[in-house]
Amino acid sequence: SPAGPAGLPVLAVDQGTSATKALVICPERGVVGTGTAPAPPRYASGGLVEVDPAVLLGSVLDAGRQALADAGDAGRRVAAVGLANQGETVLAWDPDTGTPLTDAIVWQDRRAESLCTELAPWAGRLRQLTGLPLDPYFAAPKMAWIRRRLTREGVVTTSDSWLIHQLTGAFVTDAATAGRTQLLDLDTAAWSPEALDVFGLSGERLPRVVDTAGPVGTTAAFGPELPLTGLIVDQQAALLAQDVTGPGSAKCTYGTGAFLLAQTGDRPRRGTSGLVSCVAWRLGGRTSYCLDGQVYTAASAVRWLTGLGVISGAADLDPVGSAVPDSGGVTFVPALAGLAAPWWRGDLRGSLTGLGLQTGPGHLVRALCEGIAAQVVELADAAAADLGAPLTDLRVDGGLTRSALLMQTQADLLQRPVEVSALPDATALGAGALARLGLDPALTPEEVVPPWRPSAVYEPRIGAAEAAERLGAFRSAVAALVDRTPPAS
Ligand code: G3P
Repeated sequence: SPAGPAGLPVLAVDQGTSATKALVICPERGVVGTGTAPAPPRYASGGLVEVDPAVLLGSVLDAGRQALADAGDAGRRVAAVGLANQGETVLAWDPDTGTPLTDAIVWQDRRAESLCTELAPWAGRLRQLTGLPLDPYFAAPKMAWIRRRLTREGVVTTSDSWLIHQLTGAFVTDAATAGRTQLLDLDTAAWSPEALDVFGLSGERLPRVVDTAGPVGTTAAFGPELPLTGLIVDQQAALLAQDVTGPGSAKCTYGTGAFLLAQTGDRPRRGTSGLVSCVAWRLGGRTSYCLDGQVYTAASAVRWLTGLGVISGAADLDPVGSAVPDSGGVTFVPALAGLAAPWWRGDLRGSLTGLGLQTGPGHLVRALCEGIAAQVVELADAAAADLGAPLTDLRVDGGLTRSALLMQTQADLLQRPVEVSALPDATALGAGALARLGLDPALTPEEVVPPWRPSAVYEPRIGAAEAAERLGAFRSAVAALVDRTPPAS
């Protein structure tokens, strides 16, 4: 391990949609301390999803302090902090005082739908400029929605900029997070005046776009004064940590949503399969790119089923689902917050079909697992088409990878091995790796990311014909939804 600060432990914080997780990571011994704090969003009709910014910040401080205390002596030797953020969540705030002027509008929120319909004539140009399709998921439509209504003076940014300002006083965002706004020029990784103009955001005071590794300021928020040296959006952090480098390889993180990413090297690849083309990370001024596909509801669909009383939580998926041999003819399209890539129909809502008097909780659980896994297969197929090479395997992480039922279903429908990360928190590991890179620019990603060693590998247990049949049922259900609801514009 390197001498100097980069040989010391780091504190890695993953500020996610439903919770913040923190790890103290030692270069020699790996994870030596953990902390977690809830940050639940509120759901309301009209597709609204919001969270109090104070809850986000409180969860960051809480989880970070817990991890430092849990690490004991190693916690006292921590040399730097890395922070991953949930991406497309935005808020308005006063840049002088740091006071929030709005709640944070979460990436799942659909309120900017009509604004996107209004801007539809620019969708093609925006995609060419930024690599992103026009959809309320991304930050810019939500920023424009807030800007049109904000009566007080303030900045409108993604949640990372506010958190970093609270922690260090700096006004920055990293290139990977900026790449999720739809305001960043994909080729130059700088703010695009043209995209800003389309969204009516030309007059904005925007955070400076910085590398994903490098010092941006110091914080005493966790106890000792520590430099913040790693910044990145969460999915890209997981991509880095899962060491997904080969052309046939991709990762999928099963969190609140599920996100499949594949690297494309130092050039953006504007595919035709409906995936997002965006920044993976920027190190020493050099930008790396990736393709990204999204399932908007994974753990949040499990929570929805829990709310109905069908299961008592994610830990119940396997016992309840294993009580029956199959989904009993039930097909569930869990589009509870719409469908993202490759369909880009955020306006659609979920469907449950094939219900009968014999349908029980186990069938619903299996149908949900198939619904999530089938969407991931669509994303994997799209990635393979855009990369021009079939995927050979899928590396996975996130809380839902604890469900053997979901993972086996994934391998079955994908017809490829699914390799599960030994640590479910790959996102925090990626943020930690960047924090170390930021301490010592001479280090390379290969030196800070531990080699990939899966804790489990799920091989397909059904044949191609059965997989195709099950996928066919899911695709027909999606087609029925699409037929029923023509697009708004
Ligand atoms: O794009 C949103 C995504 O990055 C949030 O991740 O882990 O909170 O579902 P997660």
